[in-house]
Amino acid sequence: MRVCIFGTGYVGLVTGTCLAEVGHDVLCIDVDAAKVEGLNRGVVPIFEPGLTPMVQANHAAGRLRFSVDAASGVAHGEVIFIAVGTPPDEDGSADLKYVLAVAASIGMHLDRPAVVVDKSTVPVGTADKVSARIAAELAARGADISFDVVSNPEFLKEGAAVEDCLRPDRIVIGTDSAAALDTMKRLYAPFNRNHERIVAMDVRSAELTKYAANAMLATKISFMNEISRIAEEVGADVELVRKGIGSDPRIGWGFIYPGAGYGGSCFPKDVQALAKTALQHGVRTRLLDAVEAVNDAQKSHLFELMVRHYGSVSAIRGKTVALWGLAFKPDTDDMREASSRRMLDHLWDAGAKVRAFDPEAIGEAKRIYGERADLVLCDSSTATLDGADALVVITEWKQFRSPDFGALKNALTDAVLFDGRNLYRPADVEAAGVAYYGIGRGRSVRKG
Ligand SMILES: NC(=O)c1ccc[n+]([C@@H]2O[C@H](COP(=O)([O-])OP(=O)(O)OC[C@H]3O[C@@H](n4cnc5c(N)ncnc54)[C@H](O)[C@@H]3O)[C@@H](O)[C@H]2O)c1
Repeated sequence: MRVCIFGTGYVGLVTGTCLAEVGHDVLCIDVDAAKVEGLNRGVVPIFEPGLTPMVQANHAAGRLRFSVDAASGVAHGEVIFIAVGTPPDEDGSADLKYVLAVAASIGMHLDRPAVVVDKSTVPVGTADKVSARIAAELAARGADISFDVVSNPEFLKEGAAVEDCLRPDRIVIGTDSAAALDTMKRLYAPFNRNHERIVAMDVRSAELTKYAANAMLATKISFMNEISRIAEEVGADVELVRKGIGSDPRIGWGFIYPGAGYGGSCFPKDVQALAKTALQHGVRTRLLDAVEAVNDAQKSHLFELMVRHYGSVSAIRGKTVALWGLAFKPDTDDMREASSRRMLDHLWDAGAKVRAFDPEAIGEAKRIYGERADLVLCDSSTATLDGADALVVITEWKQFRSPDFGALKNALTDAVLFDGRNLYRPADVEAAGVAYYGIGRGRSVRKG
């Protein structure tokens, strides 16, 4: 099938590439000319496992092309995806200006029937707005062309996006049109061979499903972080509590890791946007508000532990802190809303210098922070320890999981480790003579 994708970010590029991989003819459109030019040379601007070779192979096979020309994209696609960003507006609601700009382009250029697919995460009611914008542009040029707007939210995880896209656990399709549903079923048939993955529903339910999924996951994380605060004060170890509750299948193992807070481009903005939508419809979201508030506080907690260790904020002035991890989670270079950014701000405000390493996000950190005297971006985790007083671990990359604690003791002037993801056993760290602070690991437990 001929597919057009507007937006070549994490979602658009991965979706377009996976659709090309199964044989569809995909034309991706982006307004970022440098990105498009790079992609046409096989340069993939993001880190996502498995993506680069797949982009290159499908581009070479002629099934995956990139352009800035919206008109050619609309002319190409019998299915046209909108996969552009929906960043938070000033008041927390989703900013639809990019989505509606694409809708306007589609209306301006459509010359035969098509299915338009909202792939971006958009508030309930957006499909109606997209439809109205396309219809207005068609009417302005006196064109009478039929189209359907379908909601097909994306559930891929950064760091496993290609895998998630090729083997989705569900494909949610929201439409009231039998013909549009049939088109979507044909499009996704190659991903649907093993068992039925399509969950068909009305448009509004599909739009809400995406927010409900992210809000549920964020809730689990904030719940566990709240338990970790209690554990810390009552002298319990939240890691044991986690194991104790995760074995209950009604609770499950996923997303109950305590840590330095969730980040990324989705959870923070989607929880806020859902709360905003609810408010606009007169529903108070006590739980969602608390989920966000707990997360916001949690992002500062590791620094608070550092203040507790040193006795005051001013005692941190002049310290050099080694920071392991910049990306908001492992296997991505994405630093949007990353907990590392909050930690960096706290450390800089306190007058500390930082020596940071991340396996993939160094380029992104350079782009965000540029050159500054209080940030040295290192090319290995070991190099960060050079002249450092303390170590902070904030992203759980696999390569950080088994450091030589004896070497840490020798390298760190203050011999102290702040573990924002509970990667280590406190006893192992302390046996090497390094003071340990984790999340939700009560003081009495550490002494014991
Ligand atoms: N990143 C994720 O893990 C993830 C997962 C599921 C859903 N989503 C949702 O998918 C959407 C896209 O997210 P993303 O992370 O891929 O965003 P992104 O910021 O990585 O990419 C968006 C792309 O859209 C392009 N763009 C903007 N306006 C355009 C226009 N008029 N025409 C063509 N291209 C245009 C930008 O140049 C950019 O390349 C968001 O709504 C997001 O919430 C993201």
